[in-house]
Amino acid sequence: MYEKSLETLRRQKLVPVVKLERVQDALPLGETLCEAGLPIAEVTFRTDAAQEAIEKLTKEFPGMTVGAGTVVNKEQAKRAFAAGAQFLVSPGVNREVIEYALGQNCPVYPGTCTPSEIMTALEYGLPVVKFFPANQYGGLKTIQALGSVFSQLQFMPTGGIHAGNLLEYLEDPRVIACGGSWMVKDSLIRQGDFQRVGQLTREAVKLIQEQNG
Ligand code: 3PG
Repeated sequence: MYEKSLETLRRQKLVPVVKLERVQDALPLGETLCEAGLPIAEVTFRTDAAQEAIEKLTKEFPGMTVGAGTVVNKEQAKRAFAAGAQFLVSPGVNREVIEYALGQNCPVYPGTCTPSEIMTALEYGLPVVKFFPANQYGGLKTIQALGSVFSQLQFMPTGGIHAGNLLEYLEDPRVIACGGSWMVKDSLIRQGDFQRVGQLTREAVKLIQEQNG
C-alpha cells in the first residue's frame, strides 16, 4: 500500500486539497477530477462531511486515490481509515496518528517544517513528509536546505502553491508531489462551480505534462 501511494504521488505530482462542506459535492468533485486527468484528492477533516465524502469517493471512483487531510488525532485517523482513505496527511507531526497509520500499513504524510519535526518523522522511517506551510516557511530554498541534510527524504510541499509556482517546486527531485487547493477552492465547491474546477485542474495537469515532456 505504501509503495503504491508513493508511486501515485510520483505519477500525478499534484494532490488537490479539498474541503467539502456537503457530502453531495463528493460525486461531482470525483467526476470532475477524474475527467480532468487528476484522479486523486486529499479530503480534509475540517468538516463533518469529510468522512462520508471519503466513503462515497472511494466507493464510486475505484480508480481514484482518495486520502484524508488535516488529520490531527488518532480518532480522526481511525475514522478516515475506516472510511477507506488510502493515505493520511497531517498539518503537523502527531505520533499517535503516525503509529496508527503505520499499524494499518496506511501511508502517512505528516506536516513538517523544521529539522526536529523531520527527525521525528525519520524515527518512523517515513520516506516522504509534507512540507507545510511551504511558501510561508521559505518554499523551495528551505526544502533544498533541509534536503541537503536529510538526503534520503522527499517532500510534499503544500501551502501557497498555485499554477504560477507549481513547476518550480516540481523541478526539484526532492519534491515528490505538491499539494494545493487552488483548483478546488472552497468558494468554487460552495458555488457548485465544477466547470471551473475542471478547467483549473486540466490547466494544472497540462503544465505538469508539458514539464515532463
Ligand atoms: C492544506 O490543508 O494542506 C492547505 O490548506 C493547503 O494549502 P493551500 O490552500 O495554500 O493550497
